Amino acid sequence: MNKVGTIKAAVIGAWVLGMLLLFGVNSLTGSNVTAQKKKQDSPQTSSAPIPQKQNPEDFVGTETCQTCHETQFNTFAKTTHAKLTHDASWKGKVVGCESCHGAGKAHVETMAEVVANGTDPKLVHDKKIIYLAGLPSKQVSETCLQCHAGREEHNNYRRGEHWRNDVGCTDCHFAHAPDPSPARNASHTLISENLRQKPDTSVLRMLKGNETQLCMKCHAETKAQFSMPFRHKVLEGLVKCSDCHNAHGGFELKQTRLANFSASDASCVKCHNDKSGPFTYEHGPVTVEGCSSCHTPHGANNPKLLKRNNVFQLCIECHTNTHAIAGSDEEGGAPNTPSFHNLTQSRYQNCTTCHAMIHGSNSHPFFFR
Ligand code: HEC
Ligand code: HEC
Ligand code: HEC
Ligand code: HEC
Ligand code: HEC
Ligand code: HEC
Ligand code: HEC
Ligand code: HEC
Ligand code: HEC
Ligand code: HEC
Repeated sequence: MNKVGTIKAAVIGAWVLGMLLLFGVNSLTGSNVTAQKKKQDSPQTSSAPIPQKQNPEDFVGTETCQTCHETQFNTFAKTTHAKLTHDASWKGKVVGCESCHGAGKAHVETMAEVVANGTDPKLVHDKKIIYLAGLPSKQVSETCLQCHAGREEHNNYRRGEHWRNDVGCTDCHFAHAPDPSPARNASHTLISENLRQKPDTSVLRMLKGNETQLCMKCHAETKAQFSMPFRHKVLEGLVKCSDCHNAHGGFELKQTRLANFSASDASCVKCHNDKSGPFTYEHGPVTVEGCSSCHTPHGANNPKLLKRNNVFQLCIECHTNTHAIAGSDEEGGAPNTPSFHNLTQSRYQNCTTCHAMIHGSNSHPFFFR
């Protein structure tokens, strides 16, 4: 399936809606409120929800913008977005600068005058262009989602915690490629020197920085977790946050990533494919509650990232001997340990010496080796 094709299909529908939404909202909250209001008051445009300036003939093209914005043009030219200009499937659609900043004719006319007069542009209150850095993050994201909502990966952005908490696309992504990558202070580098992302790869996926550092800037608590004695080697650069999470949201709890919709914990299984079976004899929680019913995925003080500091404690939380916890054997809950398991004896406390295939077995219902 052609990726661009997928996006394109979505664009056709999303474009009109997106533009309506974008410019509709903008007219209420944007910096050009007065200009919009004036236009809406005039009989000519009062019935039109789309501002006059969004007429097709008001788009001037990227080359026009380039004449005054060489820096932005040069950095933009390095992004994937610049390629759309020469992509046949995007012919006739708004691409380039104006796909994000909106139609530029009014801006060009205004600024040409400003430049000709020698006026300081900073004194021009309404530059008649969408200035995304000044918009609420949800509105910035909508600009991007006009084109990006059609793909599985970003479909659910509006369902994610980032959207809900006003984290927008440009909190993580550059819109234009960064102009020379900022020199990195070594003390800000979390991962080891040899694995550190090289400066020339820092524009990977147009991310505003090394992914781990980017995420940890806001999720500072995870740095301590990934520094624990037992951990996934995220700080060392071997595993990334996005191996397990989809920063763009989704249906799963805690935005964990699914490789496919049938496996309950596919993000883990991608790397630990021996743990999820299918087994002839499945251990209930592995497939039902998932890996995090027994493991702390980020890091732990306990070997094997276990939630409890010994296996015995972990097991008896479900395999209680008291029959007190809901879900007895008959109800399909965890069966009690048999009476010959004398849990005061150390022999029986190390459960996995006997029940060694704890994630499931193809040969034994009690997970013996
Ligand atoms: C005639 C020259 C000229 C052209 C052509 C031009 N701009 Fe500008 N633009 C300016 C000037 C001058 C500023 C103010 C810069 C500043 O404040 O430092 C500006 C500012 C901007 C801003 C920031 C707005 C703000 O409120 O601060 C954006 C975004 C922008 N231009 C986008 C575009 C786009 C997109 C195009 C093409 C459609 C374009 N410009 C074409 C001269 C131009
Ligand atoms: C993918 C969307 C997108 C495209 C395409 C795009 N911009 Fe921008 N632009 C932004 C965003 C977002 C910002 C605000 C900066 C930020 O939040 O990082 C911005 C900021 C600007 C500014 C304000 C100064 C600055 O650098 O922050 C100018 C000027 C500008 N863009 C011009 C352009 C020009 C010229 C083009 C085409 C060559 C272009 N933009 C293409 C999204 C885009
Ligand atoms: C005009 C439609 C359009 C708009 C608007 C748009 N994009 Fe894109 N973007 C695309 C297409 C098409 C691709 C290429 C997709 C592919 O090849 O998978 C792309 C690629 C990307 C990539 C991947 C870059 C890479 O090098 O792999 C990122 C990140 C991205 N866009 C972020 C954004 C952000 C952030 C915004 C809003 C500020 C935005 N886009 C706005 C169409 C758009
Ligand atoms: C919290 C940080 C974060 C936010 C917010 C975010 N992204 Fe991303 N994005 C990433 C990371 C990390 C990657 C690279 C790893 C991955 O693909 O998940 C990425 C990758 C991408 C890609 C390339 C995916 C591919 O499969 O090639 C696109 C396109 C993209 N993002 C668009 C967007 C858009 C559009 C938004 C806003 C609706 C957005 N992102 C918001 C972090 C973020
Ligand atoms: C600009 C700040 C910011 C950045 C950067 C950021 N996040 Fe977030 N993230 C938040 C906020 C705010 C929330 C919602 C509150 C919370 O749960 O902490 C959130 C929520 C989450 C959640 C859901 C937590 C839950 O309880 O459901 C996950 C998972 C997550 N972020 C992962 C990431 C990853 C992975 C990255 C890097 C690609 C990242 N975040 C980058 C601010 C950010
Ligand atoms: C090995 C897979 C894996 C990696 C790598 C990973 N996470 Fe997680 N993370 C998870 C799982 C699984 C959960 C849900 C845990 C649960 O349900 O108890 C989670 C939960 C979270 C939460 C919610 C925490 C809470 O207490 O509710 C945040 C925020 C988060 N992760 C951020 C990150 C960030 C940021 C990174 C990278 C620095 C990262 N994760 C790397 C698997 C991972
Ligand atoms: C990107 C690949 C990757 C993903 C995804 C991943 N892991 Fe890991 N995991 C590893 C690697 C590599 C190690 C070995 C780390 C080491 O030796 O330091 C490891 C180690 C472990 C260990 C400890 C093994 C030991 O012998 O101490 C456990 C438990 C574990 N992972 C569980 C999980 C769970 C649960 C998830 C999903 C939330 C998950 N992993 C997702 C790569 C991954
Ligand atoms: C019922 C609790 C439980 C569940 C659920 C569970 N594990 Fe484990 N896991 C354990 C125990 C206990 C150990 C330590 C075994 C030992 O002591 O030898 C372990 C060890 C591991 C190890 C390291 C040892 C090895 O065999 O490589 C990995 C990796 C691992 N688990 C991954 C996973 C993954 C991935 C999932 C989800 C598909 C998962 N676990 C679900 C209990 C569980
Ligand atoms: C999160 C709850 C949970 C934890 C923790 C857990 N189990 Fe289980 N276990 C179950 C459930 C539920 C079943 C019943 C599964 C079924 O019948 O499909 C089960 C089944 C079993 C069985 C097979 C019994 C039978 O009759 O089929 C053995 C043996 C077992 N567990 C041992 C252990 C050991 C050893 C540990 C500790 C490493 C452990 N379990 C941790 C929930 C748990
Ligand atoms: C010395 C070996 C050994 C150790 C250690 C051990 N078990 Fe067992 N366990 C067995 C045997 C043998 C059976 C099967 C009894 C049978 O055939 O009915 C069994 C059966 C079970 C069953 C299935 C009961 C049923 O009726 O379905 C559970 C649950 C169980 N053990 C949990 C545990 C837990 C929890 C621990 C650690 C506290 C543990 N076992 C430690 C040998 C052991």
